[in-house]
Amino acid sequence: MIIVTGGAGFIGANFVLDWLAHSDEPVLTLDKLTYAGNLENLASLRGDPRHVFVQGDIGDRALLDRLLAEHRPRAVLHFAAESHVDRSIHGPEDFIQTNVLGTFRLLEAARAYWSGLQEAEKSAFRFLHVSTDEVYGSLSPTDPAFAETKRYEPNSPYSASKAASDHLVRAWHHTYGLPVLTTNCSNNYGPYHFPEKLIPLMIVNALAGKPLPVYGDGQQVRDWLYVKDHCSAIRRVLEAGQLGETYNVGGWNEKPNIEIVHTVCALLDELRPRADGQRYATQISYVKDRPGHDRRYAIDARKLEADLGWKPSETFDTGIRKTVLWYLDNAEWVARVQSGAYRDWVATQYGAPDGAAA
Ligand code: NAD
Ligand code: DAU
Repeated sequence: MIIVTGGAGFIGANFVLDWLAHSDEPVLTLDKLTYAGNLENLASLRGDPRHVFVQGDIGDRALLDRLLAEHRPRAVLHFAAESHVDRSIHGPEDFIQTNVLGTFRLLEAARAYWSGLQEAEKSAFRFLHVSTDEVYGSLSPTDPAFAETKRYEPNSPYSASKAASDHLVRAWHHTYGLPVLTTNCSNNYGPYHFPEKLIPLMIVNALAGKPLPVYGDGQQVRDWLYVKDHCSAIRRVLEAGQLGETYNVGGWNEKPNIEIVHTVCALLDELRPRADGQRYATQISYVKDRPGHDRRYAIDARKLEADLGWKPSETFDTGIRKTVLWYLDNAEWVARVQSGAYRDWVATQYGAPDGAAA
């Protein structure tokens, strides 16, 4: 079996659902259920004997030791993190606590567990660390896309904390021989994306008749990948990645933010036109820029493509249409996230939030 940390969040939940759609190998999801963790994302696995959910913190060493000893995973896939750049600017401490200290505790627990395994299990074990392109810093319009050899130049508290975690993972391999793999991915989008991030925020605000806040001049460039393509890349790296290596994951889809917002508006005009006949783009509102806002990210994914034969399945056009349709079809999920009702899910669905539930 495998352990997935952060599996109730956006990418982690997509990963767990896709994993169990592709394989019968059981998954234990360990998630603290912060504001970003939503067990409703995994509701379709309720009662599925292949899935165990444990509410807990990756910083809780005793819990980690117990879970590893009891469940004896062949891999730990580490998604859990504080992930929102704007929150990291307002309150960096949680980012240091989870992304740096939490990753350290998880590495130490994994190392202790791995050290005690028999030779065959020991060499098969993997610790896969899910990281971000933001560790590389910001590109000018003419710079080449980020290769794995690019110097780390993180600019926000979030990216600095992720960079620190990447360095810890690297060091645990180099010093202790822990069999690690690291992926650095570009901006994801798709189902279950928490509506504090650009694409889901634009969809839900547009539908609610609210302003669509575009930071600064809207010309910042991000490189977008449909979340399920990120999941397939992680599965491939787990299966065939070289120990100690890092793999950049991206879909060659660089777009300025304002273009993304116009694309979302145009899709909504087509799929759910406004009652008053106006276009959704009339709701666009330019607002104060994010402090230290990185101008451009772009991923060079050639290593993953050439060495491991991975390719994304979705183009931006197909992925963004699926995403907008998902939000239109899942208005209740959106409403429960917005009202905060999703946070009652553990209690209503599982009784007292005491930890383990399948
Ligand atoms: P998210 O914020 O949606 O989910 C994070 C999950 O981690 C939540 O379920 C949360 O409850 C859980 N969590 C937070 N702190 C925890 C702790 N101390 N112990 C246990 N669980 C904890 O994030 P996401 O967008 O799904 O990102 C997942 C991972 O992928 C992160 O490591 C992030 O850095 C990385 N990443 C994200 C993107 C992106 O575009 N979203 C791109 C590249 C890499
Ligand atoms: O690049 C990978 C990273 O992508 C991940 O590591 C992060 O976890 C993830 O949150 C994401 O970071 P970004 O800061 O790029 O994503 P966000 O959706 O917050 O913003 C995308 C761009 O849109 C960014 O340039 C800021 C801008 N933006 C964002 C919001 C929320 C706006 O213009 N208006 C907004 O309201």
